[in-house]
Amino acid sequence: SRARITLDRDFTVGEVPRRLFGSFVEHMGRCVYTGIYEPGHPEADENGFRQDVLKLVKELGATVIRYPGGNFVSGYNWEDGIGPRENRPRRLDGAWHTVETNAFGLHEFVDWSRQAGTEIMEAINLGTKGVEEARAIVEYSNHPGGTYWSDLRVKNGHKDPFDIKLWCLGNEMDGPWQIGHKTADEYGRLAQEAAKAMRYVDPSIELVACGSSKSAMPTFGEWEQTVLTHTYDEVDYVSLHAYYFEEEGDVGSFLASAVDTDFFIESVIATADAVRAKGKHKKHINLSFDEWNVWYQRGRDTEDQLRNIVKGPWREHPRVIEDHYNVTDAVVVGTLLNSLLRHGDRVKIANQAQLVNVIAPILSEENGPAWKQTIFHPFARMAELAKGQILRLSVDSDKYSNDRFGDTDLVDVSATWNEETGRVALFFANRGLEEAADVETALRGFDARQVVRAEVLEIPDGGDRFSINSQDQPGRVALKPLEGVKATGSELRLTLPALSWAV
Ligand code: AHR
Repeated sequence: SRARITLDRDFTVGEVPRRLFGSFVEHMGRCVYTGIYEPGHPEADENGFRQDVLKLVKELGATVIRYPGGNFVSGYNWEDGIGPRENRPRRLDGAWHTVETNAFGLHEFVDWSRQAGTEIMEAINLGTKGVEEARAIVEYSNHPGGTYWSDLRVKNGHKDPFDIKLWCLGNEMDGPWQIGHKTADEYGRLAQEAAKAMRYVDPSIELVACGSSKSAMPTFGEWEQTVLTHTYDEVDYVSLHAYYFEEEGDVGSFLASAVDTDFFIESVIATADAVRAKGKHKKHINLSFDEWNVWYQRGRDTEDQLRNIVKGPWREHPRVIEDHYNVTDAVVVGTLLNSLLRHGDRVKIANQAQLVNVIAPILSEENGPAWKQTIFHPFARMAELAKGQILRLSVDSDKYSNDRFGDTDLVDVSATWNEETGRVALFFANRGLEEAADVETALRGFDARQVVRAEVLEIPDGGDRFSINSQDQPGRVALKPLEGVKATGSELRLTLPALSWAV
């Protein structure tokens, strides 16, 4: 197939929001326990933080990490996770049918984040809790001292405030599976009051209101409209969540998943702006796509699947939704990242869910090694290279037909220009299962001197589109040099192998 792309140095979308390369740590399955935290592991430091996992987290380049959930947060008492470990209660976590030991809590996450060099995005419980807890955790975290909650933080070992800027007002409150699920009016009012009380404690914080759990939610659209009507003055962002998977025999639609991401983002922008116009507000509400990924180990019906994910006896950190990602998944993840980046003027935060073991780019074994999944690679390269200005693109690509989205571009792309280094970065995906794609890019306003780096992720020798990385073969699917890339003045030419992601 062929594609012709045109970009122009003067046509930019805006600055790359570095928070687009966020991730997510939930108290779910083995994300925390035996993921980032495993005292006694040969690679763990004195805090129990696995240094082998931390090294991969740094290489991934995640910038901001959402914590502690997810569905988990809607039944969580944050106070259970502070103070001397021996006094912390063991609790039943109803969201994931798990025994929570509370050995890891807020202080541990703050310490771990400092080591990882990542910003904290803290979610509060608006399922079973309310305004009082919301303001208490902000005081505990951000107030310097001399009050009940701030002095308790000091007593618990952190003299300096945590200084957490970014807060989520609950999680997926539109979902009937959520503990403390609410109607849009109920949630909108609660979020408004919680936000007010949190800002009275610390006016410098940024707040995210819950949007829809997926674009196919029956309440999608109306939910955003109602919630934002209540909370417009109080919040800065509205959230979006989306997970994609390949339905039996329909790889074409799966590869086109980013068409839904584009639709979802553009619909939420339109809805937020409609509320802005109607309410005569000045500011814009931006978007926080704070859960996204490919997720297989579930079916169409979210509610049913979530209820059935963990069955049987109550256990500590059971193995749940540990998807093993293949080449096709990595290409889809590349297109989802492209969609987020192309909308970087309004999508200011995005968190791939999750960081380790649970639908994650990193896998780790208890008492064993940690390694990169296929989806690690597009994320890491984009986090590393997407810097400076996002470029607006004109794409003229051959198309293919699929059941869900009709005619879809075979070549998907996003691009950035780093004014400081003078480098342009292009991120390509070829959705063609059989055919290579010849791509010409007109680099208007640029004078390309050199191809600094060109890499590709494709089906490995002797493998197929289902090839994965494993403990035994952690590097089977990885980036390798893309040969034959030519940049001359204002023209870039390259060929993308069938089913590939390239930078
Ligand atoms: O990331 C896994 C789960 O997916 C989260 O807990 C929840 O918010 C979403 O439904």
